[in-house]
Amino acid sequence: MPGTLSEGFFGVSGLAQMEKDFGTQDPWFFGTSKYERDKYAQQIYLAGQHLKKLPENILEIGSAEGVFSKALLSHFPAAKYVGVEIARTPYLRAQEALKPYGSRAEIINADLLDCVGDLPEGKFDLIFFSECVYYMGDRIPATGFFKMFETLGQKIAPEGVLVMAHIINQQDAPETPITRRPVMDAYRTMIGGVDGLKRVHFSEHTQFKEEDGRDYTYELWVFKKNYPSGLSETQ
Ligand SMILES: C[S@@+](CC[C@H](N)C(=O)[O-])C[C@H]1O[C@@H](n2cnc3c(N)ncnc32)[C@H](O)[C@@H]1O
Repeated sequence: MPGTLSEGFFGVSGLAQMEKDFGTQDPWFFGTSKYERDKYAQQIYLAGQHLKKLPENILEIGSAEGVFSKALLSHFPAAKYVGVEIARTPYLRAQEALKPYGSRAEIINADLLDCVGDLPEGKFDLIFFSECVYYMGDRIPATGFFKMFETLGQKIAPEGVLVMAHIINQQDAPETPITRRPVMDAYRTMIGGVDGLKRVHFSEHTQFKEEDGRDYTYELWVFKKNYPSGLSETQ
């Protein structure tokens, strides 16, 4: 896959920026914020709405320090979990955090763009890919982005589900240009255009994040693999 984080988002080294962000433990308050907790709960709820059976294999892209990973492992006690995390600092913290789950949990320290093709075909009933698509979309052309999702789509089990959450139009932050609504609209269209994937949910939410003293708007998207034809999309 073309693109490296050294060309990355923010106009400087994206990976260095990400490592710098994680210089502070839990820089986005994933572990303590009600805003983040509610967003995780909604994603788990949506997964349950669209899965026909409990997942056996879960993949999380951008697992950060493992906060959502732990929630997933607890909520789906029969499932195995694989996380992909590019930055070393959160990867090491996630490894530590997931130790109690033993062989049920595995974290790969890699760039999804490099390893997406190596993930097993048709294995994952449930994929979470939240709050990180912009970091990749900023590094590769639209053709590469579409190809990444075509490849990822092949990793989803029949009738499996891809759940995504994305902040929209983040203000006054390095992320501002990469979270703009028209760009996110284009990503959503591209993912929905992957052969065999169908968007089955779209919603937008605005919620106050106490830790930052401001509202944020985010979208939730769900795509389903091999969605039976003739059924209409729900909002
Ligand atoms: C803002 S955090 C979101 C964490 C979590 N997914 C959530 O929703 O709370 C984004 C994470 O994605 C990771 N990330 C960014 N680009 C990545 C890539 N190409 N491959 C794997 N992980 C990536 C970052 O290092 C960071 O830990």
